[in-house]
This record gives sequence, C-alpha cells and structure tokens, in this order.
Amino acid sequence: MSNSLQLRDEILKLKAQKQVLLLAHYYEDGAIQDLADHVGDSLALAQWGARSEQQIVLLAGVTFMAESVKLLSPQKIVIAPDLNAGCSLVENSPYQKMLEWRLRHPQALMVTYVNSSAHVKAITDVCVTSSNAEKVLAAIPSDREILFGPDQNLGRYLMKKLNRPMQLWAGNCDVHLLFSARRLEQLRARYPKARVLAHPECDEGILRQADVVGSTSRLLQEVKENREVQQFIVATELGIFHQMRLARPDAELIQSPPEGSCACAECPYMKLNTLEKIRNSLRDLSPQIEIPFEVATQARTSLDRMMRITDGESVSWPEHFVDPRLPAEPPYRAERGLIPRFTLEA
Ligand code: 13P
Ligand code: SF4
Repeated sequence: MSNSLQLRDEILKLKAQKQVLLLAHYYEDGAIQDLADHVGDSLALAQWGARSEQQIVLLAGVTFMAESVKLLSPQKIVIAPDLNAGCSLVENSPYQKMLEWRLRHPQALMVTYVNSSAHVKAITDVCVTSSNAEKVLAAIPSDREILFGPDQNLGRYLMKKLNRPMQLWAGNCDVHLLFSARRLEQLRARYPKARVLAHPECDEGILRQADVVGSTSRLLQEVKENREVQQFIVATELGIFHQMRLARPDAELIQSPPEGSCACAECPYMKLNTLEKIRNSLRDLSPQIEIPFEVATQARTSLDRMMRITDGESVSWPEHFVDPRLPAEPPYRAERGLIPRFTLEA
C-alpha cells in the first residue's frame, strides 16, 4: 500500500475510534479535504465545530479557525495539525497596536474579521467573516462610528457596497495581494465568455473586474450553480479548485495570474497541514488549542454576537469601549512563531 493510502487508512481508523469531527477549509490539499466530515469556509467551520455532538474537533485550516471553534465551545478538545499555520492578517494586526487604535476611538464599535488573534477579538465588539459581513454591518445602528480591521480590501469593498463609512486598518492577505489586475485584464480579453470570481481580500483592481465577489463558499456556489457558464477565472487560493472540479468536471477553471513569474497563489500557512501531521494529531490528541481564560471570555463575546446576528437574532451594543486590561500578548502566541513580522498603522 502506498504511504498516502496507509496514512489515509490510519486517519479514518483513529478518527472513528476517538470519535473526532474532522473539519477542513477549502484551501487545504484535496487529499485532506477528501477525508474531512465537512469542508467549508471560515463561518461554516466555526458553526459545524460549535454545533457538533462530537467532543473532539480536528480543524485542518489555520489556527485562528481552530481558535474560533475553541472559543465557541470551550468544553471541547480542539486540535490543529500544526500551530504554526498562522495568517498574514493575524500578523498584520498585533494586539498592542489594535488596542491603541481602539483606545483613540472609545465611542466607536470595532468590527473585526475572524482572521485575527483571540487577543484582538477580545477588544472587538463583533466579528465578521466574508460570508456574513454585510448582514452583521447592517445590524449596527447607522449613527455608530465603525473601526474595521484587519483586512483593508474587504473593508473598502464593504464600505462601497453598503455605502457605509468606516475607518480601516491597513492589513492585507499576502496571498490575495498576489493577483495582478493587469494580467487579469489580459486574461479576460483571451476568455471573453469567462465569469470572473474573486475573494474580497483581493485588491480593488481585481474586485473591479469581478462578476462575483464573495467568500470561498459563495465562489464555489457560483461554479456549482451557474451551469450556463463553461469558463471561470478564479481569484482566490488554489485549494478551492478541488471542490470546484468535483462539482463541475465539465467547466474550465483558470486561476487569476499573479504579477511575477510564479504560476499560482497558494497559502503557505494552509499548506503546512499534511496527512502525516493529521495522523499524528489524531493519535496524540495534540497539539491542542488553549486560550487564556480572561482572553477567551472577552473574545467569546464578539464571536457570539456574530453568530447571533448570523442566525437572525437581535443584539445590543456597548455605548463605549472599556479596556479589559488583558495581559500582554502572551508566550502562547510567540511560541508558535506567530510574532508579527511587521506592524502597520491604521
Ligand atoms: P473564507 O471565510 O471565505 O473561507 O475565507 C477565509 C480566508 O482565510 C480567505 O483567505
Ligand atoms: Fe490568511 Fe490569506 Fe492564508 Fe486566508 S489565504 S489564511 S487570509 S494568509
């Protein structure tokens, strides 16, 4: 038996033996997606993780996604194959800098993309994902000032679409920034019938050319359901092509090209996960996600608010910000190599 078939067998056995729910993000390798109970976007993964009966969840994605499951269900054991699977947006939004920004605008509400650390969620009023951001923003009273971070492209896109002013944090996804507006224009000229799909983390020059802008699940839905279209140009991470190909073997799928010579845009963090690491995590139930109690208690509030609005419930909003005076960003983050590479001012 080949090594990957053997690993696949071991994973399925361990998963069944220990009754583990295996979740995978669309950006994971196809071989990992094929073994998961559910494959989804960051909102769906958080919902499945929190609502499942299984008490052990393995999340093959990036660490902030596993943290969301742990925050929403603190009693569950949440494991992640590699805790170094960070995210450039988390790196672009260090807690201390975000707190200084927050303190300069105490009357504002802070809306934070889930691609953020638990510490930053703890000083946030409500989280959003790319699939529920419009609904969440619509629930905020129109007279409230909004601080939005850390993804400035998503923020700018939402401001324009909803005609709602917001102050934006200058963070970006390194992967989605790779797509070149100039080369997309050339590609569209070559494929005039293609439908252009883009994740809102892409730069404005890409979003302007897109027929559909949406979360990973929205882009997949478009490929699945728009049967009249035979060609799609996709401006998001390569992993999603796996589900797109399964759904539409008849369609031509082309990744939007980056500016440089490299052929494709892949998320280096997502790709840290391997079948071997998943097998080891299931075998050892490690590494586990652990979040300091006071951070988790605060961070849960902003995620809970997001979940309630997503489910159509009404929520109340604080009048002004009160600094929870959390301990400085602790070693639990530094130990994983998630120390910010550089910092950005809003
Ligand atoms: P989705 O919520 O659309 O899956 O996006 C998560 C992400 O990290 C995109 O880069
Ligand atoms: Fe973070 Fe970008 Fe990777 Fe998504 S694709 S996890 S935003 S670095």
